[in-house]
Amino acid sequence: MSVREATLEDLDALLELDAACFARPWGPEAWREAVAGGEIVLVADTPARGLACANVIFECCELRRIAVEPGARRSGLARSLLRAVIARARRAGCERVQLEVAEGNVAACSLYRAHGFSSVGRRPGYYRNPPDAALLMDLVIVPKP
Ligand SMILES: CC(C)(COP(=O)(O)OP(=O)(O)OC[C@H]1O[C@@H](n2cnc3c(N)ncnc32)[C@H](O)[C@@H]1OP(=O)(O)O)[C@@H](O)C(=O)NCCC(=O)NCCS
Repeated sequence: MSVREATLEDLDALLELDAACFARPWGPEAWREAVAGGEIVLVADTPARGLACANVIFECCELRRIAVEPGARRSGLARSLLRAVIARARRAGCERVQLEVAEGNVAACSLYRAHGFSSVGRRPGYYRNPPDAALLMDLVIVPKP
């Protein structure tokens, strides 16, 4: 398994993977903009079996998406993707990585907690379908040049 930067050649795989993993997948334009527009977009394997997308805003790296195709879960792909995002955030000079996750998303919450994220906020009723609270999670990192 290898984690690498996504290119525009990965667009179809990103769209397919996103649609297989999320109730509200992003459209082609959103993915094209993320890949071509300088966001951190990483994929695991070729063709992509996992993806991560994060955006650097000053000292904060916001993890916007992380997903692994259903048939490839529980084999460490998300762990590798998350570590790679954190490493890139450090190199970009970020002081923290932040994300929002549905409180009932046991797999994602466990993944984030296992990597040192802690809950710093809760928005009840944030998600509608299915209804759930959003947790705001935060990981403080030390920037590395
Ligand atoms: C969350 C998700 C990305 C995890 O991907 P994955 O490749 O299966 O995760 P990994 O195999 O790397 O697991 C790493 C750790 O995450 C946690 N974890 C992953 N899946 C889990 C599950 N079903 N139940 C409990 N903990 C889980 C565990 O701590 C695991 O470590 P372990 O295997 O040593 O116990 C995947 O389930 C997914 O794509 N879900 C749908 C999309 C989604 O909800 N994304 C997050 C939105 S915020």
